[in-house]
Amino acid sequence: MSITVENVSKTFGSVKALQPTNLKVETGEFISLVGPSGCGKTTLLRILAGLEIPDGGKISLGDRVVYSSEDGIEVPAESRGVGMVFQDFALWPHMTVFENVAFGLRARKDTDRLKERVSWALERVQLGGYEDRYPKQMSGGQQQRVSFARAIVTEPKIILLDEPLSALDAVLRDGLRLMLRSLTDELGLTAVYVTHDQHEAMSISDRIVVMKLGEMLQMGVPEEVYNKPRHMFIAGFVGKSNFIPERVKLNGVDEGRHMTRPECLRLEKKNSDDLEFTGTVKTVSYLGDRYEVHLDVENSTWVAHFPRRLELEDTVKIYLSKEDIHTIKEGLE
Ligand SMILES: Nc1ncnc2c1ncn2[C@@H]1O[C@H](COP(=O)(O)OP(=O)(O)O)[C@@H](O)[C@H]1O
Ligand SMILES: [Mg+2]
Repeated sequence: MSITVENVSKTFGSVKALQPTNLKVETGEFISLVGPSGCGKTTLLRILAGLEIPDGGKISLGDRVVYSSEDGIEVPAESRGVGMVFQDFALWPHMTVFENVAFGLRARKDTDRLKERVSWALERVQLGGYEDRYPKQMSGGQQQRVSFARAIVTEPKIILLDEPLSALDAVLRDGLRLMLRSLTDELGLTAVYVTHDQHEAMSISDRIVVMKLGEMLQMGVPEEVYNKPRHMFIAGFVGKSNFIPERVKLNGVDEGRHMTRPECLRLEKKNSDDLEFTGTVKTVSYLGDRYEVHLDVENSTWVAHFPRRLELEDTVKIYLSKEDIHTIKEGLE
């Protein structure tokens, strides 16, 4: 089921939590809202869920309008047919896993084949047989899987997830992320995933939306946002950026800041028209598959990924293809 957001905004007192926003999520698509704390990700997600009433605008889920300020439509959360997963799991501690998952179905008096449906949901998250446990008898990762099961047991077409993996440790997070993505694909769900972690967003999503101060700065497939950040803020927030000295002029580009990514810098010249810079090595970190090196280059600090170790304070030549340079035109201050 698709999601269409038109001109939706939200103010809390004097805080503009969400600027007027437009967004279209296609059926079966997995998108992430990513940005620093306080940029409005949760606000937008809660508005989609019906847990927060926006100042104005229109929201449709598929063909159904669930909110319209103009037509006075406000479909309540429980009638929107969306599943929600929260960072803190939000499980009832005094209820078994079975009862936690069954809760939404019981609340709607939708208890036909209850046992079968709860088991189905638990099996989807590989927790078949855990029905009689209590949340405190389970690990954090298992508890979060229970909350996924609870979100899908009502068979929603849309699932909204607010930093569902942030409370878990790194190894667990990687595994659950893969599981979550294959599960949403398998069930044909449309997913909106909130995270402050840009790596997580890039790895899990079909498209990502980068937000700052209540505003969507860019929406695109992860490769596009990474390789062609539109805004200075994104260049720093999604991946690492090196800014090319102003003295370097590129043909046909007369405004904007030129940048490149760490993996585009080389110690060897490859093409006759490579740009050449001189850098002094300041730090070297071994990352297993490469070395991450900080260098002073013409009064700024660059970060590069090289295949071999360099000595501190060495002076090296660095080469760069012109096609690996991207020009940013927004947020230049
Ligand atoms: N219920 C609320 N009352 C007042 N301010 C709020 C409320 N919810 C969110 N805000 C404010 O709105 C802004 C966006 O918050 P939020 O959507 O939670 O950001 P994020 O999820 O990206 O961290 C923040 O400045 C936050 O303090
Ligand atoms: Mg939040």
